[in-house]
Amino acid sequence: MSAEKYSILYIDDEVVNLNVFKATFRRDYHIHTASSAVEGVSILQSTPIDLIITDQRMPKMTGVEFLKWCKIEYPDTLRIILTGFSDTDAIITAINECDIYRYIAKPWDGEEMRLTLKKAFEAYQLKRDNRKLIADLKEAKESLEQKVIQRTAEVTLQKEEIERKNNTLESQNHQLQDLDNERNNIISMIVHDLQSPVNRINGLVELFMIENQTSFSENQTFYLDLIKRNIADASRHIRNLLDIRALEKNSDYHTPLMKVSLTEILPNMVEGYKEQAAKKKVKLHYETNADTVYINGNEDYISRIFDNLISNAVKFSPKNMDSNIFVKIKENGEYVSISVQDEGQGLSEDDKKNLFKKFQKLSASPTNGESSSGLGLSIVKTLTERLFGKVWAESKPRSGTTFIVEFPKYFGN
Ligand SMILES: Nc1ncnc2c1ncn2[C@@H]1O[C@H](COP(=O)(O)OP(=O)(O)OP(=O)(O)O)[C@@H](O)[C@H]1O
Ligand SMILES: [Mg+2]
Repeated sequence: MSAEKYSILYIDDEVVNLNVFKATFRRDYHIHTASSAVEGVSILQSTPIDLIITDQRMPKMTGVEFLKWCKIEYPDTLRIILTGFSDTDAIITAINECDIYRYIAKPWDGEEMRLTLKKAFEAYQLKRDNRKLIADLKEAKESLEQKVIQRTAEVTLQKEEIERKNNTLESQNHQLQDLDNERNNIISMIVHDLQSPVNRINGLVELFMIENQTSFSENQTFYLDLIKRNIADASRHIRNLLDIRALEKNSDYHTPLMKVSLTEILPNMVEGYKEQAAKKKVKLHYETNADTVYINGNEDYISRIFDNLISNAVKFSPKNMDSNIFVKIKENGEYVSISVQDEGQGLSEDDKKNLFKKFQKLSASPTNGESSSGLGLSIVKTLTERLFGKVWAESKPRSGTTFIVEFPKYFGN
């Protein structure tokens, strides 16, 4: 980029000086000359000027008087006064009141003048650059502030919108909760009312069978067994539904814990399911790596947890395929884990996500007409957690399912 050519206004009543100045510096600068202050004013009013050089001694208006006026009207111009050495008063006034860049003694020397002009314009340019930089910075700052204000307004709007949506969601949530409570109360009432007639039917069937023990035909025995099985199913459903309600209502309830022997309860339970499993050609096995294992628990909870897991394993094992179910107790440091492993169809990835939720019937269906309400596993989870345990399932599709329950071991006497 070529350097900017600055404009100089030179005022002197001696025309010779004006001509010499113009001849010397015309190649480097735009030179405007005036032989009086009045003429200088009219040039200033019509042309942009960067530097004013004026002689002090002029008729009508002195250099100092002219520069005072320039300082007010054109404060950004550079100002230089030409004066004799003896004119100290004029120099002092020029420095103090006209804010001049320099004073130069007359007659001026060409080289000195050239150097002075060069330095003057360097300083002038520096000042102009600084001023521009400050202006740019100010503009950037203002635009940034503007952006911050705008963004803050947007965020405030978004926040208000989120709050509004939150309020709507909260109120919808309350409505849903009310509906859910109402639905649960109705279920509880119905289930509760069903319990007595089902128990009575069971009692009556048993009485009927005892009284007529010897006189049933094979066909009648078959149907009576079927009736008994269905009554048992209905009783289990009722119990599960009442359990789930009771557990929900008393979610903060802490059951009293006592020393419970898993190695006594579990083999008996496994034994109890063998006959039912055998009807589907499913074999039940029990294994343990310890003689006795105790946990700090509750016998009723333990039997409900494993009743559900073993009955599931039997229910979802393939029929007449000579498959196996393994119930294993493993002591492992401070913990004991009980696994119930079957060779059924296994769980899909979707099944795993919904496994312990209420009323979930997943991919596997009972293989021998057993009943299924989808409540057992949610009860298993709640009861296990009440005993400070954990339950999870491991399974790959078509390679069986293993449910694992883990409890902290009992450490008393
Ligand atoms: N061992 C298993 N193998 C494959 N699928 C299983 C197994 N155990 C449970 N499931 C799947 O999980 C679902 C939920 O089990 P859950 O025990 O909660 O209910 P259910 O056995 O169907 O009915 P309920 O236990 O209330 O009589 C089952 O319907 C079944 O699809
Ligand atoms: Mg079940």
